Amino acid sequence: MQFSVKTGDPAQLRSACLLAGVFEGGKLAASANALDRASGGYLAKITRGGALEGRSGQTLLLFQVPGITTACVLLVGLGAEKDFNLRAYRKSVYKAVRALNDSGIKEAVSTLTLLAVRDTDAYQRTRHAVEAAEDASYRFDDCKSKPENHKPTLQKLMLLAANREDMRAAERGMRDGAAIAAGVGLAKDLGNLPPNICTPTYLANAAHKLGKGGKLKVTVLEAAQMKKLGMGALLAVSRGSRQPPKLITMEYRGGARDAKPQVLVGKGITFDSGGISIKPSAAMDEMKFDMCGAASVFGTLKAVMQMELKINLVGVVPSSENLPDGNAVKPADIVKTMSGQTVEILNTDAEGRLILCDALTYAKRFKPAAIVDMATLTGACVIALGNVVSGLLGNDASLVKELWDAGEKAGDRAWQLPLYEDYQDGLKSNFADFANVAGREGGAITAACYLSRFTKDMRWAHLDIAGTAWKSGAEKGATGRPVPLLVQYLLDRA
Ligand code: BES
Ligand code: MN
Ligand code: ZN
Repeated sequence: MQFSVKTGDPAQLRSACLLAGVFEGGKLAASANALDRASGGYLAKITRGGALEGRSGQTLLLFQVPGITTACVLLVGLGAEKDFNLRAYRKSVYKAVRALNDSGIKEAVSTLTLLAVRDTDAYQRTRHAVEAAEDASYRFDDCKSKPENHKPTLQKLMLLAANREDMRAAERGMRDGAAIAAGVGLAKDLGNLPPNICTPTYLANAAHKLGKGGKLKVTVLEAAQMKKLGMGALLAVSRGSRQPPKLITMEYRGGARDAKPQVLVGKGITFDSGGISIKPSAAMDEMKFDMCGAASVFGTLKAVMQMELKINLVGVVPSSENLPDGNAVKPADIVKTMSGQTVEILNTDAEGRLILCDALTYAKRFKPAAIVDMATLTGACVIALGNVVSGLLGNDASLVKELWDAGEKAGDRAWQLPLYEDYQDGLKSNFADFANVAGREGGAITAACYLSRFTKDMRWAHLDIAGTAWKSGAEKGATGRPVPLLVQYLLDRA
């Protein structure tokens, strides 16, 4: 989609459609008052008449509005005025763009960017408008035989700014929003691809593609090199698969030569059957999304490259399938990790932590300023937090706070779970240094406890995105989370 920022009288702008907000109770938003005056009070008459109550996400398309140069006006419900926050704002833009696409409209002007949204400025309103509009227009039809039937129609969206000064902030917001949306789009695409296409080898190729143009240094380790490095846990997971595992590293150097990099590590299980500890078959298809942590590394790098952020950033993606086979790792197998610590694999379905632990040990060589891993790690996290927030745990309070704040600003929230010593006990093993699973209780926490044993000497945090990286049901698909959180975190460090 093409975006632009404009100031001036919206009633005079030439476009196909104008977006105007309506609060609950049918009250036109102040930003739409000028339009209402131009229409001789026509708009207010419609909303006062009860045609649109202003419930959040409601839309009403009006044609031939008197005094307005555009062909139509789309009224957009905003919900209660006193509760109008970033979330409600994003929803209103999202629903408006969905309605425009449903109506076959190609271009529009939005006055919604002029709304007063709690704790936001023109930069944020414009940025979030771009992100929400791209989200609403996203389609994944690479695998459909007739993609043209599903194309969104909206191609141009003009975003209004109140004055010259806001316009400069809005233009920055537009650029950052487009970069974040591009990153989110890449993460969604990779997540949505079927697992017969999106294999570890496919991800390695995707890394080379992302690095084209020389902005990234891409390295891919093969099984033989993993063996040399002693990555017994990562290799154990891949044993049941015919697809070779890959350890992908992407280095972006936008900062000072000697500045320590931020390191992102993403779980890249391209299909998780559970292995010998096989999963029930219901909804097993969704385990193609088990590489969404990896996808968020790709997406974040894409956004950061597009923004040309002045930071150093390294992405590390351990990737494998998890399948049962005569050669697969078995419950009770003991392997040696790259850290030297041994693990008793009591459950082959707790494979994420196994590939991550070796990747985390490997990542130390980059001397990270901080290391953050993203993983669709536990069903327990979904039970604890649902699909609203990602689980956030870490060994450094300031890092956790920085990520929490970033999630809040980006509209991509995370919520902290405790990582107290007490939870470590469950990982005891009679035969190895520790086991890869504890009991069912507090599963998201004990998984993080396992990871914490490989990050002792680093500032480290972990995002469990099992509940947030994709949606189930009629709208099944990858969400691109937590790319917005991660990009915000990096923006705040740049
Ligand atoms: N990829 C799954 C986690 C998952 C499950 C994400 C359901 C989203 C929905 C992970 O590899 C896994 O299987 N975890 C196990 C851990 C258990 C064996 C300790 C789980 O959550 O059941
Ligand atoms: Mn699993
Ligand atoms: Zn998994």
